[in-house]
Amino acid sequence: MLTRREFMATAAFGAGAVASGVTLAETLAGQSRAGGEAPADVVLRPRRLQHSILPGTTTEGMMSYGVNAPPPVLRMKQGKVFTADLVNGLDEATTIHWHGLRIPNAVDGVPFLTQPYVYTDERFRYAFTPPDAGTFWYHPHCNTLEQMGRGLTGLLIVEEPEDPGFDLDLALNLRDFRLGDDGQFIRQFKPRLAARGGTLGTVLTANWQVEPRYDVPAGGLLRLRLAATDVTRIYRIQMPGAEARVIALDANPVPVPFDLEVYPLGAGQRMDLAIRLPAEEGQVLRVETQSGAGPKVLASLVTKGSNLGRSLAELRPLPPNPVKEPDLANATSIPFEFSWSAEKAGVESICGSLGFSFWAINRVPWPGDVPDPGGPLAVLKQGQSYIFNLINRTPNSHPIHLHGMSFRLLRSNQRALLPLVTDTVLLEANEQIDVALVADNPGDWVFHCHVIEHQKTGLTGYIKVV
Ligand code: C2O
Ligand code: CU
Ligand code: CU
Repeated sequence: MLTRREFMATAAFGAGAVASGVTLAETLAGQSRAGGEAPADVVLRPRRLQHSILPGTTTEGMMSYGVNAPPPVLRMKQGKVFTADLVNGLDEATTIHWHGLRIPNAVDGVPFLTQPYVYTDERFRYAFTPPDAGTFWYHPHCNTLEQMGRGLTGLLIVEEPEDPGFDLDLALNLRDFRLGDDGQFIRQFKPRLAARGGTLGTVLTANWQVEPRYDVPAGGLLRLRLAATDVTRIYRIQMPGAEARVIALDANPVPVPFDLEVYPLGAGQRMDLAIRLPAEEGQVLRVETQSGAGPKVLASLVTKGSNLGRSLAELRPLPPNPVKEPDLANATSIPFEFSWSAEKAGVESICGSLGFSFWAINRVPWPGDVPDPGGPLAVLKQGQSYIFNLINRTPNSHPIHLHGMSFRLLRSNQRALLPLVTDTVLLEANEQIDVALVADNPGDWVFHCHVIEHQKTGLTGYIKVV
C-alpha cells in the first residue's frame, strides 16, 4: 500500500519521476541477449536521437540512454544488488562509469584500466551493491567530451533504507548544451579555453529543459537533489527567499545541515536540499546559478494544493554513509600537483582525443584512454590511511575526482572547510586542499579533473591500491 507521501510523490506531484525512458521491449531485448543469465534490473542502450532543447528547434545528434527521452533517473537501494546491461547503440565504443559509487574495480567502467571497450551492439553487464546512500550519477568514460556533451549524463539515486520523511523527492540534472541559435551543436570546445577554465555551453538546462517549472505541495517538505553533470560549468547555487537547508553534498550527509546562501557546485558535484515549501498556493521558488552576468534561472518550483503545514524539524537526519575514518596519526602524505603541461600534442585513442595536451598531474600529462597509459601516480597499500596534498598550481578551478573511494576534507590554505566526505572536491585557483582516506578498495582508480576538456587534455592519472 502506498503511504500518503509516496502517493503524492508518484501521482499528484510526479515531476521528479520523469518517465524512465526504458521500455519493457528494451528490457526483454536485454534478456534475450543475456542468454541464461538473469535479466538485468535495467538495460541502458545509449543511442543517437533528435530532441528539442532550445524552444522552437530540434537538435540533431543528441545522445541518450533513454528512448526519445533524457537519460532515466536510476533508483536503487543502499546495500541491495543492482544490475544494469549496457547495450551499445552508438556507432562508437563506450562504457558506463558510476560516479561516486564505492564499488568493485571491475565494474568501474574505465576502458582498458578496468574493462574492455564496449563496441557497437556489444553488451556489458554491470552488477554491484551500492554501499552508500545519496545522489550520484552515471556517464561514459570513453570519448567523454563528445558523448557527455551530447547528453549521456544521468542521475542515480541510492535510497536510504528508511524514508527520511519528505513529501516529494525531486531530482534536477543540471547541464548545458553547446548549441547555436538554430539548436544545432556547435564545436564542443575551443583549444584556447580548454587550456584555461574550459568552454562553457550556450544553453543551460535542468532535466534537458530550459527553465522547467515543477509543481510542489504547498507547505510540504521537498528533497531537492541537484547534480552538476555539465562538462565544464561551476554552478553557484542559490534559491532566493527559500527556506532551504543543505543536508548532503556529493551523496554524504553534511555534519550539521546549514542554510543555503550561495554554494559552489563544480562539474561532477551534487547537493541535496531540504526545503520547506511556502504555505500558500501559487508561490514560486527559483533555483538559480550566479554568473558574471547576474543570476540565471535553472528551474522553478510552484506550490500547489492546500497547506500541508510541515516543518523542517520533522525530518529525520540522514544517517552517515559507512566510510572508514582515516587514521591521521599514521597516515602517509602524498603530494599531487596539478599544473600546465609543456607538451602540446595529444595521443590518438579509440575513446577520442582532443588533439592537445595542456595539463599534467605531478608533471605527467595523461596520454588518453589508451592500452598503455603508463604507471600509476601512486601505489597505496590496502587498509592504510593516506593524506593527499592536492595542490593547484594554476589560476583555474578544478573539480578533482577520485573513483572508487571517498575521502575526507581536512584543510585548505585559503579558506575554512567543512570536514565533508566526498568523491569530488573543487580546488579554486592556486588552492591547496589536504584530504584523507583509507585505501580500502583494491584496483586501479582513475583520478582526474571533471572539467572534461581538462580530463581529456592531460589532467588525469590513476592510483593503484594493492
Ligand atoms: Cu564522473 Cu571519472 O568520472
Ligand atoms: Cu567517477
Ligand atoms: Cu580542471
